[in-house]
Amino acid sequence: MTNLMNRRQWLTRSGAALGGAVLAGYGGLSRELVASANASPNSPIRMMFNENPYGPSTAARKAMIAAFDEGNLYSRAAYNELRDLIAKQEGLSKEHILIASGSTEILNVAGLVYGLNNGEVVAPQPTFERLNTYAKNIGATIHRVPVDESLHFDLDGMRKEINKNVKLVYVCNPNNPTGTITPAKKLRPFCEEVSKETLVFVDEAYHEYVNDPEYSSMIDLVREGHNVIVSRTASKVHGLAGLRVGFGIADPKIIRHLQSRLTGTTNIIGLRAAIASYRDKEFQNFSRQKNAESKEIVYKVLRETGRRFLDSKTNFVFFHTGRPIREFRDAMREYGVEVGRPFPPYLDWCRLSMAKPEEMEKFAEAFGKVIG
Ligand SMILES: Cc1ncc(COP(=O)(O)O)c(C=O)c1O
Repeated sequence: MTNLMNRRQWLTRSGAALGGAVLAGYGGLSRELVASANASPNSPIRMMFNENPYGPSTAARKAMIAAFDEGNLYSRAAYNELRDLIAKQEGLSKEHILIASGSTEILNVAGLVYGLNNGEVVAPQPTFERLNTYAKNIGATIHRVPVDESLHFDLDGMRKEINKNVKLVYVCNPNNPTGTITPAKKLRPFCEEVSKETLVFVDEAYHEYVNDPEYSSMIDLVREGHNVIVSRTASKVHGLAGLRVGFGIADPKIIRHLQSRLTGTTNIIGLRAAIASYRDKEFQNFSRQKNAESKEIVYKVLRETGRRFLDSKTNFVFFHTGRPIREFRDAMREYGVEVGRPFPPYLDWCRLSMAKPEEMEKFAEAFGKVIG
């Protein structure tokens, strides 16, 4: 019975996806309708993991269904195809690219490689913790540098923490959970200088969302041969978080070193979805557009209730709740809205991921009840 139900559910879902794929066309509106028709029910509203509420795109859905036929094959050809596509889009050689099971695996393996043998890491706080946690678990020392009063990175403070045992400096740009950027005119000289002494890891998971002339990717430093690694992911603007596809981009020597320590592999469905999605500029634009609309709704609610918030360049907003985040999170859950976890030491702040604009009304209502 359970098997029957599961099979039935699966057929319903894949049927809906196929139907959507056929209906899709490439107009903005039809794509939106299809995307929302295909998406699984968002209840409670997931505003906690910085996921894309629209993805996977119609093109990625089609590619995934087609990839069922390749399920019996090892995924080397698809891996090479995606690697070549990324290399071409970024103007690098294929030897500069390492694809992994989400950028999490790149972060983990970097934490492992550079944290072993009493390696030390310098990282801001708060930031995305994956690399730091992994390195700490294998005995590395992590030097934490608090953000400044405006919740931006204290790059001078980070520079001061560097000593001969520091093997890696982690910079998340834009940063998670703050959603802020470090402008290129500050970050580039920092990377150029620091990478003479140690590896700089720039996590650009939210790169595709940024629309700010002060921001720039640090991939050009990789191109110029600096000791810098950049990570990217298919989990955010591409809406493929559950498919686990991410990249490390660095000098081929670094890539080979990290590759030799990887434990995971990528799967054919995720790779085919990513290939389709990285070619699909229209879906990326659509995701960005909807995300911007949702952010405006959140900003309005926060302004009206007099909350301090940061100008986000990502698909989430960090704001001051004025009460303990755990309490706030539980209260919002009661009204069907899941918000982000605590980010010490900002324990009376909340990281809120963007849902669809039409779902924001539910957020505004819940927020009014909880905060009002
Ligand atoms: C800054 C940052 N880096 C990396 C990741 C991990 O992403 P992936 O799904 O590629 O493992 C996340 C996920 O939320 C993130 O916020």
